[in-house]
Amino acid sequence: MTPEIIRETSEFIQNQLPDFEAKIGIILGTGLGHLAQEIEVLCEIPYHVLPHFPISTVETHSGKLILGTLGGKSVICLQGRFHYYEGYSMQEVTFPIRVLHSLGVKYLFVSNAAGGLNPVFNISDLMIIEDHVALFLPESPLRGKNPASFGPRFPDMSQPYDLELINQGKAILKELGVTVHSGVYTSVQGPQLETKAEYRLLRQLGTDAVGMSTVPEVIVAHQVGMKVFACSVITDLCFPETLKEAKFEEILAAAAQAEPSLTQLFIRLIQQIS
Ligand code: HPA
Repeated sequence: MTPEIIRETSEFIQNQLPDFEAKIGIILGTGLGHLAQEIEVLCEIPYHVLPHFPISTVETHSGKLILGTLGGKSVICLQGRFHYYEGYSMQEVTFPIRVLHSLGVKYLFVSNAAGGLNPVFNISDLMIIEDHVALFLPESPLRGKNPASFGPRFPDMSQPYDLELINQGKAILKELGVTVHSGVYTSVQGPQLETKAEYRLLRQLGTDAVGMSTVPEVIVAHQVGMKVFACSVITDLCFPETLKEAKFEEILAAAAQAEPSLTQLFIRLIQQIS
């Protein structure tokens, strides 16, 4: 992914709506696509018409870019994301983030579905991500050439998630009367879920929630200097002693149940951005 390729995609998008400017980018994950319904849409671009854009293959992800307003702010929304397990390279998975950066996005909001390892979690709880573990990923999304426009060669990762947004997010959930959790998200390659032994290991390593997305995008967003806020919906409980067979429909149902709170959280946080 060269700066020229990234620019070709971002110029194509900008040309659809020449006066549009947005500081805020949003990635909508599994079963969380309905936040998009709250957006006043100015322009929608299916991924398959975007030059150089990967095309999403998972049926639950519809795959389009939405330019519009949410909570009174201009936003660019990625409806549908790319996962390593679908066969994309880490560069492809994170290409949309580089395009958002090239379009002027300064804040990235991310949601995902995740398995809960912290014993106080319940199904459909929300967990604000405070930190992550990327060590199980096959490679870094930053591997390879690092043109100056990408940011530092060796980016600091002492606080990839913006502390102010984390604190604002916690306060909003309290106001909404929603249980507030925060913790460490570990990202794995997937697509298979983990064994009991793997959940035990992940928990011992400090994981509160585990999933198959988000961290590659966050690493790139942080490298380019975006402020990042990420929140997981706990869709299944992954306690080794009582582990039940995971059912995909139950995971989607758990995500759907959390959707109203998550939507409110994102809208209110976005309203607070100055
Ligand atoms: N593991 C990995 N990814 C997930 C899980 C899980 O248990 N639940 C939802 N996404």
